[in-house]
Amino acid sequence: MPDIVTLNYSEAGQGTPVVLLHGFPLSGAIWHEHQKRLSDRYRVITPDLRGHGRSPAPSGVYEMDLLARDVLAVLDALLIKKAIIMGHSMGGYVALAAWKLAPERFLALGLIASQAGADTEEGRQSRYKLVTKVAANGSKDVAETMLPKLFAPDLPAEAPIIELVRQLILNTQPTGIIGSLEGMAVRPDSGTLLPKISVPVLILAGAHDQIIAPDKAKAMAAAVKTATLTMVEHAGHMPMLEQPQATTTALCNFLGGVGT
Ligand code: MLT
Repeated sequence: MPDIVTLNYSEAGQGTPVVLLHGFPLSGAIWHEHQKRLSDRYRVITPDLRGHGRSPAPSGVYEMDLLARDVLAVLDALLIKKAIIMGHSMGGYVALAAWKLAPERFLALGLIASQAGADTEEGRQSRYKLVTKVAANGSKDVAETMLPKLFAPDLPAEAPIIELVRQLILNTQPTGIIGSLEGMAVRPDSGTLLPKISVPVLILAGAHDQIIAPDKAKAMAAAVKTATLTMVEHAGHMPMLEQPQATTTALCNFLGGVGT
């Protein structure tokens, strides 16, 4: 089994620990504005997953369990026994893998623009095609493939968040992109975990997500007994950047109800 790596992370505030995981192929930076906003009441930790941001990017398949073990090691290093762990998209796959490995570490769970299902065969094959392109041309092919689908269609083409996300993707190392694509391709279906989750779960999606259909959020919410479902209007796959205020409000309302 590959070794865990020591992740880079940013930490702010005091109180109940809240861990915000980013999606593929971005970094903890997507959460920094929310980290600032929440840090007056919570201890907010935003790691860079393996292969992303300033964390190490070893070669190999980044299975979701492996990414989850890296994140649990950050909690260990910070002497945090239990936390509210929320993940965006691939970060949600990692949060579900962490729940499977160590449910006792969770005070609550958040799945932001994410899903519980595994890839379809077609989805898996398109990941492997992208792996070939990234191996040949580097990160820019991922930016070209993903950027047109990441935001709600009504976002103006000159919105600064588009450039921000482009730079985050371009700064992600090819080994990190390839490891993550291969890891997501082999991730198991986590659907059977959902009815067993006993802590509060926030399921938040952009109403116009073109990468993970919002109906998947509704289906997850129907399967989780303890779910709070929030659909963010005028947002696609990146609600924390497209609609930061609505996302903060949803996070604060949820966190306030967790009763820690
Ligand atoms: C992400 O945003 O993390 C990815 O697009 C998720 C995926 O490709 O399944």
